[in-house]
Amino acid sequence: MLVATKVIHILFAAAWFGHKLLIPRDVRQSVHVMTDGEGLIRRMHRAERLGILSGSGTVLSGIGLIALTTGFAETSVWIYFGLAAAIGILIIGALVARPAWNEIKGGIETGDAPRAAAGVKPFTRALALESLLWIVALGSMVV
Ligand code: HEM
Repeated sequence: MLVATKVIHILFAAAWFGHKLLIPRDVRQSVHVMTDGEGLIRRMHRAERLGILSGSGTVLSGIGLIALTTGFAETSVWIYFGLAAAIGILIIGALVARPAWNEIKGGIETGDAPRAAAGVKPFTRALALESLLWIVALGSMVV
């Protein structure tokens, strides 16, 4: 049970990091040429669903691992540090990446290229910060 939960945890965590790798380039290029905006919106919708699934799967399986190993009182401070980093990723996603994406999407839907372009930098920066926090979380899991 413990090994299976750990494997699931690592798979969710890997998907959480991996699904975002190609997004910044895709968004930058698609907004630059402003063609196939609908394709970008479709791809982003799929990526968003995968992000929600893998992010919540990582946190829930992590909580399961705490219950299966030390219990909450005895858990290492590093695990809580990783949990804080994971929560940070979710907060940045909700407060920065999502509004920025809404700008990009709104710009694409209305044919407003400057509006779409204005959202690109905050969006890609938010994703970079999320990836950095993910690496921090990984580091705190393996110390
Ligand atoms: C980006 C987020 C995360 C990544 C990349 C990640 C990665 C990992 C990895 C690679 C391991 C295996 C470590 C080892 O066996 O040496 C692990 C174990 C573990 N993780 Fe995470 N994790 C993340 C988030 C979380 C969260 C949010 C929690 C808690 C809610 C959590 C709780 C745990 C626990 C309890 C273990 C087992 C530690 C042990 O065997 O003593 N993880 N994690």
